[in-house]
Amino acid sequence: MTRKILVTSALPYANGSIHLGHLVEYIQTDIWVRFQKMQADTTCHYVCADDTHGTPIMLRAEKEGITPEQLIARVWQEHYDDFAAFHVEFDNYGSTNSDETRQCAETIYATLKDKGLIEVRSIEQYYDPVKNMFLPDRFIKGECPKCHAKDQYGDNCEACGAAYAPTDLIEPYSAVSGAKPELRNSDHYFFKLSADTCQQFLRQWTRSGSLQPEAANKMQEWLGAEGENKLTDWDISRDAPYFGFKIPGTEDKYFYVWLDAPVGYMGSFKQFCDRENREGHPINFDEYWLPQSQPDSGMDARRQGGGDAGIPVGRLGAADAANNADTPSVVATELYHFIGKDILYFHALFWPAMLQHAGYRTPTKLFAHGFLTVNGEKMSKSRGTFITARSYIDHIKNTEYLRYYYAAKLNGTMEDIDLNLEDFVAKVNSDLIGKYINIASRCAGFVNKIFNGEIPLIHQRWIEDMNGKREKPFWDGLKKLMRSSEEIASAYEQRDFGKALRLIMALADETNRYIAEKEPWAVAKRVDNPAEDDNLKDICANALNAFRLLTLYLKPVLPMLAENVEAFFNIPPLKWDDAQTLLPAGHRINEYKHLATRLDPKLIEAMVAANQESLKPVPESHSQQRHAEAQQHHAPSQAIPSSPPSPKGGEAALASGAASTVPPFAKGGLGGISPVAETISIDDFMKVDLRVAKIVNAEHVEGAEKLLKLTLDIGEEKPRTVFAGIKSAYNPEKLKGRMTVMVANLAPRKMKFGMSEGMVLAASGEAPGLFILSPDDGAQPGMRIK
Ligand code: 2FM
Ligand code: ZN
Repeated sequence: MTRKILVTSALPYANGSIHLGHLVEYIQTDIWVRFQKMQADTTCHYVCADDTHGTPIMLRAEKEGITPEQLIARVWQEHYDDFAAFHVEFDNYGSTNSDETRQCAETIYATLKDKGLIEVRSIEQYYDPVKNMFLPDRFIKGECPKCHAKDQYGDNCEACGAAYAPTDLIEPYSAVSGAKPELRNSDHYFFKLSADTCQQFLRQWTRSGSLQPEAANKMQEWLGAEGENKLTDWDISRDAPYFGFKIPGTEDKYFYVWLDAPVGYMGSFKQFCDRENREGHPINFDEYWLPQSQPDSGMDARRQGGGDAGIPVGRLGAADAANNADTPSVVATELYHFIGKDILYFHALFWPAMLQHAGYRTPTKLFAHGFLTVNGEKMSKSRGTFITARSYIDHIKNTEYLRYYYAAKLNGTMEDIDLNLEDFVAKVNSDLIGKYINIASRCAGFVNKIFNGEIPLIHQRWIEDMNGKREKPFWDGLKKLMRSSEEIASAYEQRDFGKALRLIMALADETNRYIAEKEPWAVAKRVDNPAEDDNLKDICANALNAFRLLTLYLKPVLPMLAENVEAFFNIPPLKWDDAQTLLPAGHRINEYKHLATRLDPKLIEAMVAANQESLKPVPESHSQQRHAEAQQHHAPSQAIPSSPPSPKGGEAALASGAASTVPPFAKGGLGGISPVAETISIDDFMKVDLRVAKIVNAEHVEGAEKLLKLTLDIGEEKPRTVFAGIKSAYNPEKLKGRMTVMVANLAPRKMKFGMSEGMVLAASGEAPGLFILSPDDGAQPGMRIK
């Protein structure tokens, strides 16, 4: 039967790099999609996008001196390139910051509002009076009310694990400016998840088979017993300043990042449909997103489409026509979301409730997976196991090795998977190279050299085996390989890739045993005319046909390798049904070139060392660590939240950029620097009046080769002018608004271009570069540095 499938992976945040934890999901999805695309009568589309909105992205852009749009454009390209390198092939990779996503979000919001499911309520929230913004929980810090650990976040304590409200923190401060936050009221928009219609729908949806059993249990827990009404309304708005979509009809309210993130699935698919239609490949967005008739169940479909779902009049496209009793029923499209188990709450509660009540179809299934550990532990920067996609690409290069290893570990459940680096090397070398590639390297040469590049005929004469039984020497193993197609397909379909690979490798083992037993190399030497020897012909034809079938089965996992094998065999791209055919005798193949090499463990060591190396010079600050962890939404210690999760990543991560890459101490750390002056006393040091300065203006100085003219605010009535020799390192535009450090009591100096009233501090050394200093977040102009 024809299938029409739309698949998504969770949209990665645009404020961090793709790492090996993320890749579990994208590789898992891509394998499933590639498997579907190999099936006859199946259309499968795979879309994704960057998740671009929210406070951390806004603040990170500000910190980098660029607009959020510039930031997300840069990160989009990085993400896109990383995915491409791992052969994750989207049909469209979009951005939530798109017109398509905006339109869909606004439509959904308008429908929910019309249905009375949006409520405005005033809530009290912490406000940063310096930065003039409301603070998300994760941007408020203070002392834990339970264990009194300092510098804890506003929603839970990392020291004792307690969960609380930001207002419970002792001596709270803003993580953005350091200021003491004030409580202020603001109107917020809520999606009424507590409404009976939502609770009833979600109860029914939980039972509909759209969730893995583990996830369905979790849902029952969140929903509570019948009549318990445990769900609370969901706050879908944020106050300006915010990087996101403005809520229609408001001046300063924005959709919360998690409102428009899943809508990004629709937005990206819409972009795909528009492009396909422009290119003459008709595809209908509505067919995938509006409720539909089921094949042969027109009545049910009409009930679903016209009644319960409450589709707004005039919104129905193709599905409407399909629901008409006079029209034959259409194929029901399928919608699957692959997600990490940490974002189940958003996808299993908010998202289906939103879709249902806005008149859209709900997902066919959510496929949640577990987290990644490396060597049995949470990914860690200090151990060098917090590995970005880029770092893997730079060191290991062959990204299909990781695809193979992840596939071998995945079984379609929500269990965590472990990347054991030693096992990774062993598995790649023993399975991929030692079993699979080995088959081709052992037999291809004979065909190229002895049989003139032509697949020999598996000869059809009857022979007697040792027991005198007459049979055709059409090797049983090959028949078994062909017959295994269904069982392997079913494992792929169930996302039990581990099982699929076990089946495939068992077949590779059998093939290797066959070759070892038949010893084609000995036969070739033994017989007078190998080119005419039926036995040698049989062995080679059987082995190469087996290799072709194994390639077909491995193709969803190893697409590039399969492409190279197809080129070697001189055949069109393999489809699943090709498992029922063999290479015809006389088919001419190309010369065999080595297809893959063993994975050298030294490459892994170098990668781990490089990831560790970059951290040695600067001990990680608490906030850097936090940032790194907030980015890894697959962090192993996180379980499925037992209550609505705090707005992690999307609101949490203060964007401090990638791991620190400060170069190692130039001359071997302590003791390696030569003194620049004699030792001074603390009193001598205290004579230097160092102040935090805000660069209110920076400009070029006409005729000066090295200088920039800085206007510095150090809390005095009149700002100071300082000429600084930093022109080679800084674009003045980028300096405006930055904080730095100045010597405020240096005697004023008359220079050619005017009076310089102090000095800014900068670091330089033997390595190229000049770096002005910055105080930590929260420091205010004029603060004394001592
Ligand atoms: O957890 C995350 O990384 C989110 N950016 C996932 C969003 S998935 C979807 F809803 F967009
Ligand atoms: Zn605590």
